[in-house]
Amino acid sequence: MIRRATRQDWPEIVRLSVEAFGASAWPWKRWRDLLSAAPQPVAEPVQALALVAAPAEPPPPLAGYVALQMIHGEVEIQALAVAKGVRRQGWGTRLLNAACERARQAGCHTALLEVRLGNLPAQAFYGHLGFRVCGRRPRYYHSPLEDALLMRKSLVAAASPCTEAGADAT
Ligand SMILES: CC(C)(COP(=O)(O)OP(=O)(O)OC[C@H]1O[C@@H](n2cnc3c(N)ncnc32)[C@H](O)[C@@H]1OP(=O)(O)O)[C@@H](O)C(=O)NCCC(=O)NCCS
Repeated sequence: MIRRATRQDWPEIVRLSVEAFGASAWPWKRWRDLLSAAPQPVAEPVQALALVAAPAEPPPPLAGYVALQMIHGEVEIQALAVAKGVRRQGWGTRLLNAACERARQAGCHTALLEVRLGNLPAQAFYGHLGFRVCGRRPRYYHSPLEDALLMRKSLVAAASPCTEAGADAT
């Protein structure tokens, strides 16, 4: 089941985040602030929220999470991780699809995300779900320092998810 994350999910989300990202995981305070925020009206142009995947038969208590921010018609996928023990079982797909569908229903036309240049498994995952590389942000990540690839997907057009001319993966 995919549902909106609550304050009660905080410890498990932080645990999953550290498991997935180690030293570059979001600080626990950032999760606390996100999970404590009251839901905003659908019409609000800027909205931040997190979704979690809760398996019918735990453990783990949560299979994964996704954090997203909707800003004036675009949704940024800010964080996404699946518990190590349940990867390659479709949880990441369900979470990302749920995030994109929620954003589409809120009026977003485009989904964007950054991914580490060296995170080839995540790039393969996003590519599988229709995201395409549209740019590169030098020295974007810390701990360790690394470039980010910017990936994009249209939430309205079924074909041609990346329409920017000259998009370059390198
Ligand atoms: C990336 C991540 C979220 C994928 O979650 P997942 O639940 O394992 O993904 P799914 O089972 O939905 O995979 C869907 C498809 O994506 C692709 N994919 C997923 N993981 C992959 C991997 N490690 N290598 C290559 N392709 C992969 C495959 O095409 C897969 O389909 P298949 O299993 O039938 O071959 C998960 O590996 C993870 O949490 N990684 C660590 C955190 C991270 O890197 N997050 C993204 C940061 S930007």
